[in-house]
Amino acid sequence: MTDSAVIDIRTVTDDDLPAWTRTWGNGYLRSYTESSVDTIRSTAGRDRLIGAFDLDRCVGTYRSSAQELTVPGGAVLPVSAISKVSVAGTHRRRGLLSRMVAMDLQGAFERGEPLAVLDAAQYPLYGRYGFGPATAMAWFEIDVHRARLDPRRTADVSGVLLVDAREYLKTAPAVYERLRAVQPGALRRDEQWWLDATGQRPAGPPDRPEPFFALYLDPETGEADGLLTFTAEETWGSMLPRSPLWIRDLIAVSPRAESALLRYAVTVDWVTTVHLPYRAPDTLLPLCLGDPRAARISALSDYMWLRILDTPRALSARTYGVDGALVLEVTDPAGHAAGVWSLEGGPDGASCTRTGRGPDLRLGVRDLASLYLGDDSATRLAALGGTEEVRPGALARADAMFRTGRRPWSPRAVLGPRYQAGAP
Ligand SMILES: CC(C)(COP(=O)(O)OP(=O)(O)OC[C@H]1O[C@@H](n2cnc3c(N)ncnc32)[C@H](O)[C@@H]1OP(=O)(O)O)[C@@H](O)C(=O)NCCC(=O)NCCS
Repeated sequence: MTDSAVIDIRTVTDDDLPAWTRTWGNGYLRSYTESSVDTIRSTAGRDRLIGAFDLDRCVGTYRSSAQELTVPGGAVLPVSAISKVSVAGTHRRRGLLSRMVAMDLQGAFERGEPLAVLDAAQYPLYGRYGFGPATAMAWFEIDVHRARLDPRRTADVSGVLLVDAREYLKTAPAVYERLRAVQPGALRRDEQWWLDATGQRPAGPPDRPEPFFALYLDPETGEADGLLTFTAEETWGSMLPRSPLWIRDLIAVSPRAESALLRYAVTVDWVTTVHLPYRAPDTLLPLCLGDPRAARISALSDYMWLRILDTPRALSARTYGVDGALVLEVTDPAGHAAGVWSLEGGPDGASCTRTGRGPDLRLGVRDLASLYLGDDSATRLAALGGTEEVRPGALARADAMFRTGRRPWSPRAVLGPRYQAGAP
């Protein structure tokens, strides 16, 4: 076996892409196709691709992309979004992941990106690198017969319009941008993303049948306030329809639009189960049904993990629930976020600077990440032992400042065919 120290961790070149793509596919249990190399090549200029190489053999993959994250109050921060992390089965548990993460986070820190984010495929991996779970998601399965929605009375779907991919593409990105401007936890969706989502990218993956598309136009203003993408499968049993419907994307800027689009999905004839993935756990959607218990949670999980690299920039970018001041001592084994920081913030803005004063709260960088978008509470993190109240009252003050009225949400559309195969 090659000594791990001689395995080279380096930036990937164009010539490396086929082997890099194959290694990534092996890690994610996805078959290799030429088109997946083309897909990665099409964004390679903008993304940072790292590989681990044992002599000339690619044995590890890692990608980070320049992204934008909306934080409480509506500010948008540049973030490094990490994906395609894998190490070949022949080379696991020899520290290659740790070396790729360290190289990439150091690069993000030097470029001045205040945060890094990722979706963790496995919970135990990223805490050791200073990431903490910052948003959560609930996955619902709706039993249509129990939903008690009657198209003649309770299921008002006025405003919902079925459209084709081209019409959808003209309108949907602007709806998403309106949500992103106010939704803590939301990331940017670029033009490539929309072409992919609608099956309009010429060299797109061949395994994606075109979904169905709907928009919600507000009956009073005529403005598009919501979008819905779904797939469904015609299924029968004993002469009864038993079709499942999978919501792939449901974005709305008003509760009215959100509930009309869900009602539409739940009242499509022949459909007996509606799958509604990746919602914030406090989503209003189940309450749009006649019987909210018809929406059973089939998965409840941490979702987007966040890593703070620049504490003053991150903490001064968001707003806080109440006016208040806190001195936070942040520990960070990698050093990036560490220090004693004086935070003064409120609903109108905040400042955060290094201080020589003693701390009110002592916490690890991972706990700071879980507080950052308002999803977790300092009181809860202290009970778990990672946060320490140095000055009495500091936990309650941190909760009043950091927590948000609604939980943050990282909207995610499901694009690939795996969803129908029964994820999560
Ligand atoms: C997850 C994966 C990238 C780990 O790569 P690796 O090179 O074996 O990881 P490392 O050797 O650098 O391990 C770093 C640490 O994480 C731990 N670790 C690694 N994989 C782990 C796992 N699956 N569960 C729990 N701990 C794990 C190691 O024990 C090590 O701990 P230590 O720092 O206390 O010694 C690799 O197993 C893989 O490719 N898995 C399949 C794809 C995947 O899940 N990717 C993650 C996508 S977000």
